[in-house]
This record gives sequence, structure tokens and C-alpha cells, in this order.
Amino acid sequence: MAVKQPVIITDKHEMRQWSRSMRAQGKTIGLVPTMGYLHEGHLSLIKEAHDLTQLIVVSIYVNPGQFSPSEDLSTYPSDFNGDIKKLVAVPGGVDVVFHPHNLYDYGNNSSSRIGGGGGVKREEKREKVVSCLEEKGLGHETWVRVERLEKGMCGKSRPVFFRGVATVVTKLFNIVEPDVAMFGKKDYQQWRIICRMVRDLDFAIEVIGSEIVRDNDGLAMSSRNVHLSPEERDKALSINRSLLKSKCAAEKGQVNCGDLRNSVIQAIQEAGGRVDYAEIVDQE
Ligand code: PAF
Repeated sequence: MAVKQPVIITDKHEMRQWSRSMRAQGKTIGLVPTMGYLHEGHLSLIKEAHDLTQLIVVSIYVNPGQFSPSEDLSTYPSDFNGDIKKLVAVPGGVDVVFHPHNLYDYGNNSSSRIGGGGGVKREEKREKVVSCLEEKGLGHETWVRVERLEKGMCGKSRPVFFRGVATVVTKLFNIVEPDVAMFGKKDYQQWRIICRMVRDLDFAIEVIGSEIVRDNDGLAMSSRNVHLSPEERDKALSINRSLLKSKCAAEKGQVNCGDLRNSVIQAIQEAGGRVDYAEIVDQE
């Protein structure tokens, strides 16, 4: 079978032009937004997208807007060439890899771009989001917030995370103009927030949530797993195990949410983990 080499687009105007010309030819477009360092979870989103649309765009962009200064923006793993190899090997391949340098560069910061076009040499350092105050009003000051759903759970320990995600996904939707967009349910709160945003802001985009893909030992696949030592990985397995145990108990008629929640917390703590939160909530 012939392999498909994706077109690599780094410029947002070029990306929009490509999408519009394809749509003018009656083609449907699926978007798989990622931050790169791709794993089987991402590839399963692409495989699923193939059943839904004719063309696939994968975006690879580590969004500084969703990291607070204390988080791991500078150490977030990346391997662009490895990612392209994986994308070429997916059955059906992908049509475009959208790999912008800085989605918060509005052309008033000439030092932030080193060249243009595919395969550009990129600055090593990842830029932080330029706020309007830092750049005398020339930076970025518009944020999308899903006010109720962004509060609590992951939003408690990562206060800027969801506004950064909602904003960058809005930008990607406006640039790529897809028919369908794929998200993993591993990031369940993120998925619910994006569904709500699409409904509330009338995006004409179908959002698909895909099931979690796990390694053989049961750990949910995540680009950040590369940072785990074998001991940490072992501790992390207690998350899936304790959730499964509570699910089983609930299915057998245990209906006390407090007890179910406490048994998850206890099992993770016993394995040596520190729990940010465990909550049982309605998905809406
Ligand atoms: O889930 C992710 O990888 C990111 O949060 C996303 C949706 C690509 C936005 O940067």
C-alpha cells in the first residue's frame, strides 16, 4: 500500500486556505488536536476520524496558554520527526500536519519567528503567552472560559489550564474550520468543556470523545508518562485499579458515593500516591 506523506503547514493563513479549498471541493475535514509526542491514544483518534471524514488534519502545538509558570512547559516532551513517522504509518495516513510556531504571535513581535514554511528551524525555547500587559497592549488578551465546568477537579490545581485549552481549541477551530474534532476521554473534564463550548458558541463542529487507550499494564497512555520512573509508574497504576474496583462495587449495588470515592482515595494513598481529587459527578 502506498504511504501518504502529510503536508506540513506552519502558517495559520495557509492552513485556513487549504481547508477552504478542500471544503470548496466538497471534502469533509477531521481535526485531531495534539501537543505532539504522539502515542497509540492519539493514533486511535486518527483511525476513528478516518471513519468520519475524508481528510484528516493533525495539529501539533504545545500551547503555552494552558501552562502556568510553575508547570512543565519547558520540559513537555517533543519529537516532531518521530511524530511524522508515526503519522505516516497510521493506516490511511493523515493529510496535513498543522505545526504552528506561535499561535499568539500577531505579527508585532518580529524576533519570535525564525523563517517560515515547512521544516523551519525553530527556536529551542518555548515562548510563554504574551499578555496584553507585558507587551504594552500588543499581545494576547482574549480568553474563552467555560465558567462553571472549568471550576473544580483539574481546574483546582491548574487554575489557567482550561481557559488556555478552550482558547487554543477555539483558535484551532477558527483556523482549520473542521467538520469533526476528536478528543480523548482520558482528559474527561477537558472533553466535557469543549463539548459545552461548542454548544454555547454555536461552532458547526461535531466533537467526538474517544475511549481511553491503555498500555498492557493498564496505565492510560499519556505523553507525560515518559517522565515516570518504574516506581512512579507502579504507583500510577493504582488509579486505574481503584477506579475499576469502585466501578465494580457500584455495579454490584454499592450506591454510597462518599464510600466509593473514599475507597479510591485510600487505595491510591496506600500505593504511595498523593491525590489531588477524586469526585463522582454527572457528566453535564
Ligand atoms: O489534550 C491536549 O493534548 C491539549 O490539551 C489540546 C486539546 C491539544 C489543546 O492544547
